Amino acid sequence: MTSLKLVGADATAHKLWGGRFSGDTAPALDALNRSIGVDFRLWPFDVRVSKAWAVALWSAGVLTVEESQRIERGLDAVAARLRGGAAPVASDEDVHTMIDRLLHDEIGDLASKLHTGRSRNDQVATATRLWAMDACTVLDARVRELQQVILGHAEALQQDGTLMPAYTHMQRAQPIAAAHWMLAHFWPLDRDRARLAQTARDTASLPLGAGAVAGCAYPISRVLLQGSLGFDRLSPNSVDAVSDRDFVAELMFAIALLGTHLSRLAEDLVLYGSSEFAFVQFGDAFTTGSSMMPQKRNPDALELARGSSARVLGDLTALLATLKGLPSGYNKDLQDDKRALFDAADTMCLVLPAVAGALGEVTFRADRMHAALSSAMMATDLADYLVRKGATFREAHASVGRLVRESEERGVELHSLPLKSFLAAHALFAGDVFDSLSPAASVERRDVEGGTGPNALREQLAGAHAALS
Ligand code: ARG
Repeated sequence: MTSLKLVGADATAHKLWGGRFSGDTAPALDALNRSIGVDFRLWPFDVRVSKAWAVALWSAGVLTVEESQRIERGLDAVAARLRGGAAPVASDEDVHTMIDRLLHDEIGDLASKLHTGRSRNDQVATATRLWAMDACTVLDARVRELQQVILGHAEALQQDGTLMPAYTHMQRAQPIAAAHWMLAHFWPLDRDRARLAQTARDTASLPLGAGAVAGCAYPISRVLLQGSLGFDRLSPNSVDAVSDRDFVAELMFAIALLGTHLSRLAEDLVLYGSSEFAFVQFGDAFTTGSSMMPQKRNPDALELARGSSARVLGDLTALLATLKGLPSGYNKDLQDDKRALFDAADTMCLVLPAVAGALGEVTFRADRMHAALSSAMMATDLADYLVRKGATFREAHASVGRLVRESEERGVELHSLPLKSFLAAHALFAGDVFDSLSPAASVERRDVEGGTGPNALREQLAGAHAALS
């Protein structure tokens, strides 16, 4: 909401405080203090909080039922105006002040009774929690969409029986099913969704009723507020309640780790899309060209995903740095929690559909993947062959190592060495050794749960389906 248009700066600002001041605040402070450009988007949640508070004030005997109902209807009218595009004015200090001003427009001085027993401190904590719970749901849906794209590719790759190299240290390690690689990016996202769900649960602790810091002096029912606002429990300590931003930190960590996972997926694709690998080909809708080099197709969406995760990580760091030095109770530093939180969430909401789109239009080059499977990658299978025939793994490892050295010295692949080289390397080698050098056999043997073997892969795909259902 940085581009929020503010209209009509006026000198007599609508303020929620000011009685004890004789002079005006300095314009330089107003400019620094004003958070409406960031927190405007909280208005639907703040209106909900205020409507619930009006009822609480009625049940506490502070408002008559008529007053409470007039305030509720007034807040509905305010919400309708905001939904219709009513913009904040430059003098609105924050979203709470803006709604208070608009409510005065609607119902006159009765609006002034609404702020009885509450503070913007418990108000903003409550509204931001509601926003965060909603954000968890929105993010979950977008992550799920990306998982669906991943699963679709994995199924097609499995059906085609596509194999590829798995890498460790970015060196060719062992052959795997390409679907197994694709699903390696599914499960981190599954954990991200579990983290978002847990964050939503942790966030559902109601601060309202904490007042400014010491609690509310009117007999409002916090239990009723909890129910009507959809929280699971009550904050147990008002001092903690107005300054607890653990939920913001948790959500931002969940987002930062999600960003990290997207960045790693993007990096795999950027790398595999290079001419040197050419395992994948990018489509038209999520790549760009070069103004100078006519041949270029650049995977911008993926690069921006990789880059954006850095900013999200910065947002998390900024929040934690803000929190660590604060004394107990509310401090104005906390106003900036929303700047960091909204930036992180907005960034992810931009990145997730772009990554899903870019991955969705990728095509896989099975020929290139298969061509990258050198027989040295079956060296472990060769050692396993000797173990099956009675050698210890250490001894087998050394013998196969000698064979790999020999193949490198001769400049040929392992499977091109003559049988006599194998016999010289270890007495247990026999003519059937060449069967151990097949990538398909290597993959098939690794059928332990979670392995790349065909039965394990089928189970994994079923598990991924279950995770999305
Ligand atoms: N805009 C403020 C925030 O986001 C609201 C709370 C202001 N509280 C106060 N005591 N000035 O934190």
